[in-house]
Formats: sequence, C-alpha cells, structure tokens
Amino acid sequence: MSVKQVLIFDSGVGGLSVFEQVRKQSPSIKYFYLFDNAYFPYGELEPDFLIGRLMYLLSSFVDKHQIDLIVIACNTASTVALKSLREHFSIPIVGVVPAIKPATFLTKNGVIGLLATPATIHGSYAARLIDEFAADKQVLKIGSTELVKLAELKLHGKLIAQADIEAALAAWLVLEKMPDTVVLGCTHFPLLKAEIAGCFKHKINLVDSGSAIAQRVTQLLGKNDTAIKENNHQAYFTKAYRFDEAAHFSALQRSFLAYGFNSLALYI
Ligand code: DGL
Repeated sequence: MSVKQVLIFDSGVGGLSVFEQVRKQSPSIKYFYLFDNAYFPYGELEPDFLIGRLMYLLSSFVDKHQIDLIVIACNTASTVALKSLREHFSIPIVGVVPAIKPATFLTKNGVIGLLATPATIHGSYAARLIDEFAADKQVLKIGSTELVKLAELKLHGKLIAQADIEAALAAWLVLEKMPDTVVLGCTHFPLLKAEIAGCFKHKINLVDSGSAIAQRVTQLLGKNDTAIKENNHQAYFTKAYRFDEAAHFSALQRSFLAYGFNSLALYI
C-alpha cells in the first residue's frame, strides 16, 4: 500500500497544534505543512481576498505534490473559505472551526469565552455555531491578532511576557462572572495554552478542535498504525526570511524539527 500524503495548511505556526493531534492518530501518513507568512495574519484579511489567495496557493501545491487530503488548520480560512474550496477541489478538505458545541457540555456556570481572530469573531460562521449550539449560554467574544502574533514569537524563539497575554484577555479578567470554559477558536492559541490558563485564578476548560480534526482524517483515509520509517515530513513557507531574521529563522527550524519536520524551505 502506498503512503498517503496530507497537506496541513495555515497562515503561520498555528497549524502545528492541529498537526500534532493528526499525526498522533495517523502516524503512517507523510505530511507536508505549508504556511502563508506572506499574507499573515489572515485574521485581518478581507474574505474575498482570502478565498482567492487560498485557491491559488492550494491549487499550485496540489499540482506539484500528490496530495490525498488537505487540512485547513486555520479557523479563519476555514470559516471563510471552506465551502468554496470544497466546490473547487476533488480531494477531501478537512477544516477546523471553533469548538462551540463541545464547550457547551463542559461549562458549569453557563459562560463560554470564544477566543479567535477578528475575522472569525465577526464572521457569520461563528454566529451560526453559537445560534445553533449555544443559544442558551452566554458567549463572550474576544478577537485578537495580538495573541496570534505572540504564538508566532514563541515558536520563533522569542520570550513572551505573561502581561501581554493578560492584556489580550483583559476584558474577561475584570468580570465578576468570568468564562469557566474558553474555546480556542484559532489554531495558534493551543500553542499558548499554559499562558492562557495562567491568566485565570480559577480552573478553566480550554477547548480546541485538534482531536476532532484528527478523527476526521482517520475516518477519511482509514486507520493504519504503522509509523512511516523515515521522518521525512516537509514544511514550506511563502515569504523568505531576511538576513537580519536569521536567528529567529533558526529557532523556527528547531521548532519544526521538534514537531517532526526534517525540512523547512521557501515554497516556490
Ligand atoms: N491560525 C489561524 C486561525 O486558526 C489564523 C491566524 C491569523 O493568521 O490571523 O484562525
């Protein structure tokens, strides 16, 4: 049986939080990771522009590589473009959307926080999820590009200050009735799980969609537990790093290596 090939896609390093779960459940797959740092952050882009960009980039990638399935490991891209992408591509596309429904089973005080990018927070997809699954709950929302950037900095080897995470969550931290359950509606945020949990005095449920995505991939490609012998997963980015960013690029290479990728290169 030939090895299946899956593309994991995000604007930046956030998709690694999804990749980690997917690979755990499907170790026999060869993974490609593509991140679009040329147009990062996605959470600030206009929907039509984003759809066009995704069509172009993903079409070009699947033309070059034999890909069996694409994981859009980005809530922003998924909530905006999933429908168009599925209409366009014949291979299965798995998307990640905020885990509102699971959060409704976990909350005890009925207050759920949705933490996502500004685009996801303001988009109609999240509103529909809330209407459908959480109409009887109080759903508080924060759209933050700052947190996305902090997650990037962390994996680029820079120190991040807890005070900056607290500043991003400030609107919730002053409330008398704070959320007891927070939906990490951006794939960058599970990379800051400990820092986010550390902002709350009480125990907090942090919910993401990683394991649900992993299950969906297994369902679509079938289960095969034999890990592939060689660790030859490959990662690509769309905008070259400058010479003065060499130290951060090396740190990023180490981060990708730690996740199991043995190459990180400019996508051309
Ligand atoms: N990781 C992305 C998400 O899940 C997007 C972050 C961004 O580029 O704004 O929404």
